[in-house]
Amino acid sequence: DWNSGNVIAEQVARIREQVGSGRVIAGLSGGVDSAVAAAIVHEAVGDQLVCVFVDHGLLRKDERRQVEVDYVAATGIRLVTVDAADTFLDALTGVSDPETKRKIIGREFIRAFESAERDLVAEAESDGQPIRFLVQGTLYPDVVESGGGTGTANIKSHHNVGGLPEDLQFELVEPLRTLFKDEVRAIGRELGLPEEIVGRQPFPGPGLGIRIVGEVTRDRLALLREADAIAREELSAAGLDQQIWQCPVVLLADVRSVGVQGDGRTYGHPIVLRPVSSEDAMTADWTRLPYDVLAKISNRITNEVPEVNRVVLDVTSKPPGTIEWE
Ligand code: XMP
Repeated sequence: DWNSGNVIAEQVARIREQVGSGRVIAGLSGGVDSAVAAAIVHEAVGDQLVCVFVDHGLLRKDERRQVEVDYVAATGIRLVTVDAADTFLDALTGVSDPETKRKIIGREFIRAFESAERDLVAEAESDGQPIRFLVQGTLYPDVVESGGGTGTANIKSHHNVGGLPEDLQFELVEPLRTLFKDEVRAIGRELGLPEEIVGRQPFPGPGLGIRIVGEVTRDRLALLREADAIAREELSAAGLDQQIWQCPVVLLADVRSVGVQGDGRTYGHPIVLRPVSSEDAMTADWTRLPYDVLAKISNRITNEVPEVNRVVLDVTSKPPGTIEWE
């Protein structure tokens, strides 16, 4: 019968056999799958593994710290962070169209990862141990969805910007291939990974970049990051974070409305709360959050986030709405 300790032991043995004394590279997205996959590989081969984390500047508050500090402290993994925020934001200048944003973010992500990867490959070769393996956090449902194919680093164009380029010449290591999401979380807990990562709700690869309706700028990201952190904090405090599927927080940067604060008239931006309930993200319903929780989130966002003077609730199911606004 299923037991996370057994699964880890089996995978560790399998990985050691596959990898031998070879070097391994893994990308971390901040999400649960890549974090657990890398942690199992690290259990198996220790410092033969190196991880790469691309900070694209579109992360939520504290996410980089969770990976760089908490995850590294919990695992002892060797991590290289690519500080690519400026590159991504420059590339996104003047762009409002959602699909164009996604393409740019996807392209820049692959560039950033590949440049880190080239440095690491060169370094590894110079000491006689080339990197031959790449970790992927493919889950069982992904295997089924893509027809059970194996052996190549093939990514769904839309849904995995946290994933990797297709043309890398590595053999894949996929320790989660037989597992479902809840099993992956159980294994992550067994391995002692931080709860913020193991219990994390889905978050899109393009990050906050597709939660700003309008052009993505540093100032707008700062506003959205604060509003999002408040919403997450209050949902957790109310014990609701594990009940809802996810709650995108969206900044309508191209919309302004009139408000009043203190003795003054304001002309600020709305924030949208998009709490959804879902089984698999294919369909979703909007979550009937308690009014007092909504009130608290709204009060805090309008008080604490400058330039936001209105909070609105998205009450659309999927279909016809998607979960994300872009
Ligand atoms: P939509 O908006 O299509 O989202 O209803 C369905 C689920 O997918 C997530 N999502 C993404 N995840 N890269 C990802 O890794 C993406 O580009 C992406 N776009 C949407 C979304 O958060 C929801 O869970």
